Amino acid sequence: MILPIYLYGSSVLRKAGEEISADYPDLKGLVDNMFETMYNANGVGLAAPQIGLSIRLLVIDLAPFKEEDPELGAFKTVMINPEMLETSEKTASDEEGCLSIPGVHENVIRPVKIKIRYRDENFVERIEEFEGYKARVIQHEYDHIEGKLFTDKVSPIRRQLIKSKLDNIARGKFSCSYKTKSQR
Ligand code: NI
Repeated sequence: MILPIYLYGSSVLRKAGEEISADYPDLKGLVDNMFETMYNANGVGLAAPQIGLSIRLLVIDLAPFKEEDPELGAFKTVMINPEMLETSEKTASDEEGCLSIPGVHENVIRPVKIKIRYRDENFVERIEEFEGYKARVIQHEYDHIEGKLFTDKVSPIRRQLIKSKLDNIARGKFSCSYKTKSQR
């Protein structure tokens, strides 16, 4: 089932998510719906607050990168209750966008390498290291479950330049191809 994606300005995007337990109601159905919603919107990552749930759950599928980088394109994951353990001092800048902020793409500086603990879709605990684009997407989605958005991290000058675009999204003045929702 395709769910509406909550837009910039919605309060759920600014709340830190709660941890969930293995008996969370229909977790598998929820994960399936999140993937379906993300694919429908041509996204590569989606976090639960973006569908209005303030819980620590995110999904990622980098399949669109399959042709340019098969290893990257094979990366698909579900992370439940993730906890960032380490981030590298070394950083890099790259362009990001967000399904909750349609039409806005900006460079964001992030650590290039991370170590993260999470539970997979079977609730098995894993500790893994990621780098490069995988690490970037995981950090972007992880920020969502901390109530943060990538636009918080763009340079002050760029933030000033995109302010009216963000205000317009919050006011419902924008266009995109997928189902959205604004919450006050
Ligand atoms: Ni996002």
